[in-house]
Amino acid sequence: MTASDMNYITVALPKGKLFGPAAKMLMELGYAPEDLRENSRKLVITNETGKMHFIITKPADLPTYVEYGAADIGIIGKDVLLEDSKDVYELMDLKFGFCRMMVAVPQSLQREKLSDYAHMRVATKYPRIAQGFFHSQGIQVEIIKLNGSIELAPMVGLAEIIVDLVETGRTLRENNLVEVAEIHPATARFIANRVSFKMKSARINRLLGQLKEKLESGCPDAKV
Ligand code: PRP
Repeated sequence: MTASDMNYITVALPKGKLFGPAAKMLMELGYAPEDLRENSRKLVITNETGKMHFIITKPADLPTYVEYGAADIGIIGKDVLLEDSKDVYELMDLKFGFCRMMVAVPQSLQREKLSDYAHMRVATKYPRIAQGFFHSQGIQVEIIKLNGSIELAPMVGLAEIIVDLVETGRTLRENNLVEVAEIHPATARFIANRVSFKMKSARINRLLGQLKEKLESGCPDAKV
């Protein structure tokens, strides 16, 4: 199975928070098979009737699969696209998975101005976004790249500050962290490989049209 097979569309879906709403949306449009599960042991799940393959990847890897054409299209958070810009078409804001990229600190370290955090350490899964933000503010900080559970870093003295996604705010609250600045909001995006978008334009555009219609109909599922 390769995405160069003109008879099939290969769709990449990310593990994690976006998987549920993305799979649900595709199921409701009749594209995703019943056995499409985030934790499936099967790495490629095929919908023979709809001529679609589905692959499930780590979010950070997903744009790479699409850039190289191993997947024709994909659904991924804007945060991932901003952190690691890839040569893909970003075709639609799917308006679900809403969250915010935030700077947060322990309550006890809260200061008046952002510049008061100069020369501190910032733990994050998003080093480019974090560096870019502090640089744009003229504030020098040390960035420490982590791969998850970022909120742990200030609790154990690895860093004073974190830059991370906030969805409900629960993780911050439960770890006595407070938001001090918003970097940007993020939602799920529909992306496509540049060649696939030309070669398989009819099918991709049809899917885009259906997604657009679903969003415009104000379907509550689209806002999951
Ligand atoms: C994300 C993010 C925060 C949390 C925010 O982590 O990095 O930790 O969700 O959500 P909340 O505001 O609703 O609490 P994720 O669960 O993706 O895992 P990770 O910590 O391994 O990155």
